[in-house]
Amino acid sequence: MKVEGLTHVYSQGTPFQTTAIKNVSFELYKGQVAAVIGHTGSGKSTLIQHLNALIKPTEGRVLFKGRDINASKENMKAVRADVGLVFQYPEYQLFEETVYRDIAFGPKNQGLSEKEIDERVHRAAGFVGIEQRYLQVSPFELSGGQKRRAAIAGVIAMMPEVLILDEPMAGLDPAGREGIMANLMSYHEATGAALLIVTHSMDDAARYASRMIVMDHGTVALDGPTAEVFSHGEELTKMGLAVPTASLIADRLRQLGVPLEGSIYTLDLLEKEILRLRGGRENA
Ligand SMILES: Nc1ncnc2c1ncn2[C@@H]1O[C@H](COP(=O)(O)OP(=O)(O)OP(=O)(O)O)[C@@H](O)[C@H]1O
Ligand SMILES: [Mg+2]
Repeated sequence: MKVEGLTHVYSQGTPFQTTAIKNVSFELYKGQVAAVIGHTGSGKSTLIQHLNALIKPTEGRVLFKGRDINASKENMKAVRADVGLVFQYPEYQLFEETVYRDIAFGPKNQGLSEKEIDERVHRAAGFVGIEQRYLQVSPFELSGGQKRRAAIAGVIAMMPEVLILDEPMAGLDPAGREGIMANLMSYHEATGAALLIVTHSMDDAARYASRMIVMDHGTVALDGPTAEVFSHGEELTKMGLAVPTASLIADRLRQLGVPLEGSIYTLDLLEKEILRLRGGRENA
């Protein structure tokens, strides 16, 4: 997916005119797991809603597999099938009588056969960890975390090649967050789909994403491999963004004289580096 010079102005020509994103360009590659981070109001939600033609650019283009997604009705329809978008708090969009029917809604619209729809529903439910016995209950009887899973399953059921999620872990407890991220990663691993995840959590971005796109006041401030982006600690702090917990611990250990090497931004990397340092002495 290629985003070229994307600008979006809300309420143009009124006193409420706001330029939400300005000349944003980047490419998202097949199978990539990327995080979009940035302060409140930096334009993250506006940006991602362009990626499946939900809103139209004021300027610029979005190309999917080389085709301008807004150029024709066919292109728009095609991108909606291939690029799945999960809104923030998607559970508010559950509306069918049963969880099954909610998950089946997308595949049904795609015109698949009953048998294919059934397979899609079960597969999607499996990816997000919804047990069979919940498929026939009303989505409103589910817990908050389960509702979120059901809503995500509804998009996964369309088997998108690119899955875009706006704050999928917002409002969940740590166990719920971890569960959803593991579910998304399993979808990515099983299908090779690209993930683009908007998150406020630097720790989640550090742990799961190999690429980070940092938004600041409607523009892309930093874009690159996760390790590289986290090496701009000072800039991130200036943008009001936190640095991952593991980086803070590593910095403190360095101040205390521990000769940690390399860029450390996850607890796994920190553990490996500490074990490496100790390794020389106690290889047991
Ligand atoms: N429908 C809208 N009409 C007018 N202005 C809007 C609309 N949606 C967003 N904006 C404005 O556009 C800018 C970017 O908003 P956006 O929601 O894209 O940011 P965000 O990075 O997703 O923020 P958050 O982290 O709070 O979700 C903000 O100034 C916001 O007030
Ligand atoms: Mg937002």
